Amino acid sequence: MSTLTHLISWKDWSDDQIAELIDFAVYVKQNRVFFSGHMAGRSMAMLFQKTSTRTRVSFEAGMTELGGHAIFLDWMSSNFLLSDIDFEAEYLSRNVSIIMARLKRNEDLLILQSGSKVPVINGCCNLFHPCQALADILTIVMDRPKDWKKTKICYIGVHNNVVNSLVGITAALGIHLTLVTPIASPDSIVPEVIERGKSKGTISWEKDLKTAVRDADYVYTDTWVDMEFFNDPKFQKEKEERIELMMPYQINSELLKHTKAKVMHDMPIHAGYEITREVVLNERSIIFTQAENRLDAQKAVVLKLLEKA
Ligand code: CP
Repeated sequence: MSTLTHLISWKDWSDDQIAELIDFAVYVKQNRVFFSGHMAGRSMAMLFQKTSTRTRVSFEAGMTELGGHAIFLDWMSSNFLLSDIDFEAEYLSRNVSIIMARLKRNEDLLILQSGSKVPVINGCCNLFHPCQALADILTIVMDRPKDWKKTKICYIGVHNNVVNSLVGITAALGIHLTLVTPIASPDSIVPEVIERGKSKGTISWEKDLKTAVRDADYVYTDTWVDMEFFNDPKFQKEKEERIELMMPYQINSELLKHTKAKVMHDMPIHAGYEITREVVLNERSIIFTQAENRLDAQKAVVLKLLEKA
């Protein structure tokens, strides 16, 4: 991997660089002990403008396993709230080796990147969630090591940041992704990303759910309402409208009768909405393994970005 210094989106990574990172993530997972100590004496700043369980825990535990340290910064109780983002980012980068940030707006993340003198990792913004997509593909590679490149994924839900990152990573790796996405989160469609999928012939859209899942190896869903709006009273009307529109697209036991696919979800789960509790706990669900793989994926990203730093 030559000149890469950040992971904001797969847009910025070539097919070869992404393939190399996947191979490396598998290696990191299979050789967990080997990398202990690789981040000794180094710190990561983890800045959160939104809530998180997996992203925070996997990066923090990952840094600990690598022998480094992670500093949690809550946007609301830091001076990112008061000052220019690039100034605060430059300050941070004079103290830590790497920054992971979960910001609401991609524009703000790019400003943070411009101020930082160290690698910046996108921990999920309105447009992209690359670390999630990396863990998703790592999960599939570990699940089907011999033929993962022939895998067919069917994503059912709202077109959102997770979808954009799935489109980017599957296009780079030649994995087919069928989208059943009756609606999109506001301004979430990134034409450049869709073009990459189209040019590789790895993306298609399907309206009929049973047709979409028939040949799928994995069915994947995500929340219908973005995390920062889920419990926001101002968003309740839109939330109710989305639920009514999306309910026919729920992943439930009836749908599983029409496919042999395994079930994926990036979590947090809203059981009873995009997926039923029964399916989450079904033997075909690999959701908790997928979430566990965030740890190895995060470690691989940190190690790669700091390889030459
Ligand atoms: N999937 C994911 O990013 O989980 P968190 O929002 O809990 O970090």
